[in-house]
Amino acid sequence: MSYKRQEITPEQIRRQREFLAAVAERSAALPEKPRAMVDTYGCQQNEADSERLRGMLLEMGYELTREAGEADVIVLNTCAVREHAEKRVFGNVGQLTHTKKAKPGQVIALCGCMVQQQTVAEKIKNSYRIVDLVFGPQALWRFPELLLQTLTGSGRVFAVEQEDGAIAEGLPQNRDDKTRAWLSVMYGCNNFCSYCIVPYVRGRERSRRPEEILREAEGLVRAGYKDITLLGQNVNSYGKDLDEDVDFSDIIRRINEIPGDFLIRFMTSHPKDAGEKLFRTMASCEKAARHIHLPFQAGNDEILRRMNRHYTKAQYLSLVDMARSYMPEIVITSDIIVGFPGETYEQFQDTLDVIRTVRFDALFTFLYSKRPGTPAAEMPDDTPKAEKQRRFDELLALQNSISEEKHRAYVGRTLRALIAPGAEGDKYPLSARTNGGRLIHTLGERNTVGTFQNVKITGSNTWALIGEIVK
Ligand code: 5AD
Ligand code: SF4
Repeated sequence: MSYKRQEITPEQIRRQREFLAAVAERSAALPEKPRAMVDTYGCQQNEADSERLRGMLLEMGYELTREAGEADVIVLNTCAVREHAEKRVFGNVGQLTHTKKAKPGQVIALCGCMVQQQTVAEKIKNSYRIVDLVFGPQALWRFPELLLQTLTGSGRVFAVEQEDGAIAEGLPQNRDDKTRAWLSVMYGCNNFCSYCIVPYVRGRERSRRPEEILREAEGLVRAGYKDITLLGQNVNSYGKDLDEDVDFSDIIRRINEIPGDFLIRFMTSHPKDAGEKLFRTMASCEKAARHIHLPFQAGNDEILRRMNRHYTKAQYLSLVDMARSYMPEIVITSDIIVGFPGETYEQFQDTLDVIRTVRFDALFTFLYSKRPGTPAAEMPDDTPKAEKQRRFDELLALQNSISEEKHRAYVGRTLRALIAPGAEGDKYPLSARTNGGRLIHTLGERNTVGTFQNVKITGSNTWALIGEIVK
């Protein structure tokens, strides 16, 4: 498998700009402005990719909508990490049969990680004939060309071959939010954790050039963004594929030097690559948020070995100690998989032990999902589903009590937080994020949205804090 770094040349980008213009011309000739909908499944990287798709659609003369029924183009940006997400996509595509019947010219496109799996692409080809356009993550930068081909050609368009991992600069992007932004620093993954499909569909690690990242970060700060999350499957291996001497800590430091009042976050960090330099850098950069998402996946050494994670429980725990020695207040969150093939109840106890020892602020917990083509899919798995679910519930009960206690300890404190609108239908008009990324349901004036304010914490629950803006 190749899948290596492929820098898209300015000439190739210029060609795509021509395709953008050609679609825009078609749109302008229509009696009514055409509409497009982009729906996203899965991780933040996909959210960022969808912002690129929306940016391109706007330049192609489309208006954005959230209603499938009125859209001329529907793009579902899919996820392959767990089977559940794939089932949802197929279910939703099935539903689109109705909208397409009512609107026969409607273009239905599927992109993202799920369709890059050859078996899935075949299934769409044979059984989901309402889908007109299918393209994998490597082909995203060619969306203008692929859409034009779909609109003007006679057949369905599939761009799901294995190709080298693209790095494309200079294509449009339309960000959803005006204060919080995703900024991709690298794409792909080299780790091949034995349960994970990502390296097979997103290709090898490749880093964007530091000057491109810096230029984008400066643009975001200039545009008033207050919270920038640097994205990569494993940000701590940033720069290893570049021909210059630069690592992720250097990127944090250089963004920190941009004048302005804003926070830098990042995700995800792999414990095997996070270390002293990262924590030292975070501690000395006042704009680096005091938060790290550090997935440990499982607590037992034998399971970690079979997961191909390259660290032990003891190493993980000492990493957490090191982070806290530099930043005592740091918020630590993690991902966990329950029910990895062959994991015994005794081995699962090591996972609970890590949770009790570290006392995470929050956890993202997943039941193991078998991904065809990964090594773990071939491992014997004799634990019944009900038993896995029982362990999952046991873990959740433990974490909920820890989250609740940790949240309660905030009550009475006043924290600087970035204000955002409250969720629809919420009795709190505002929501806010602490420096460590914890959510506060907040009382206060709407005109504070997008600014940092002092918020007094007046209450808490398992999932969030409750507070009010104070002068
Ligand atoms: N089953 C369950 N969870 C998975 N993850 C990745 N692959 C799988 C799988 N096959 C989880 C990991 C990862 C997060 C993004 O998704 O915990 O950190
Ligand atoms: Fe998957 Fe592991 Fe890569 Fe994360 S680091 S994307 S879990 S293979």
